[in-house]
Amino acid sequence: MNEKKKVVLVGCGFVGMSFAYSLLISGGVDELVLIDVNKEKTIGEAMDLNHGLPYARQKMKIKAGDYSDCKDADIVVITAGATQKPGETRIDLTVTDTKIVKSVVSQTMESGFDGIFVVACNPVDVMTYVTQKVSGLPYHRVIGTGTLLDTARLRYFLSEFLEISTHNMHAYVMGEHGDTSFVPWTHAYLGSKKILKVCEERNITQEKLDEIYHDVQQAGYEIVNRKKSTYYGIGLALNQLIQTIFKDENRILTISCYQNGEYGYKGIYNGVPAVINRNGVQEMLELELNKTEQEQFIHSCQTLEHIIKTVVD
Ligand code: 2OP
Repeated sequence: MNEKKKVVLVGCGFVGMSFAYSLLISGGVDELVLIDVNKEKTIGEAMDLNHGLPYARQKMKIKAGDYSDCKDADIVVITAGATQKPGETRIDLTVTDTKIVKSVVSQTMESGFDGIFVVACNPVDVMTYVTQKVSGLPYHRVIGTGTLLDTARLRYFLSEFLEISTHNMHAYVMGEHGDTSFVPWTHAYLGSKKILKVCEERNITQEKLDEIYHDVQQAGYEIVNRKKSTYYGIGLALNQLIQTIFKDENRILTISCYQNGEYGYKGIYNGVPAVINRNGVQEMLELELNKTEQEQFIHSCQTLEHIIKTVVD
């Protein structure tokens, strides 16, 4: 990685720009280059962000650019892709987004890019697989946002329900960022106390926990139905991932990560908790899933593999 922290963002729609705006506020990056098929929009977006710099905490070089800017970038973030319409699932975007991602990744690699790809377009686990395949970069340097947002939603809902800070909710959503995700409840903690134990003491039923997961799984659809697309949550999730990489934090995040047999499955990307640092994915935090959770994970992997085999490959 360079001394100077450089990010290239490909895709300047709502998701990309929410991420860019959150970077402007948080700082932590020295250079941000915007790329989009709509060149005029990137120029306008760069102008708009630059005008906020006097009120930002850190100087940042922001410009509209092209793929040659990827050559010395540390991280290329891909948010380019189709927007989910009401009634559509993320999987319905596969054909369109595969074309877009293949083109973006090929052009990025032609620049000589040798950094980390962070993928956020949907279906994110499949698009991360496509990015790795087309780029040929090592698996640990191609990361999808996976269930990072779902995990944030889970912590938010749990925090509201149990009336304890989101920061004390140690629980993960695993699997596909989509309909086959699941919560390994046996590994969910409030502080250092098992949430299942807290529920037992407070007479909270498993049905209530299932309801909370259902709300998490439906959250994306609920927002799309109401305001057409979701972007603030994923923008902040992306920011967290980028900061974790640059600060070399070794923080555990639920990202889409290459499966190399850890949970009994190989050859695809899926959402798992993993240690993230300057190298990308340092290692997976392999949980001891119970039989049901293991079956849920395998079902999620099989669903993704089926899409890859029938639509992508
Ligand atoms: C989300 O979950 C739609 O994937 C997007 O917010």
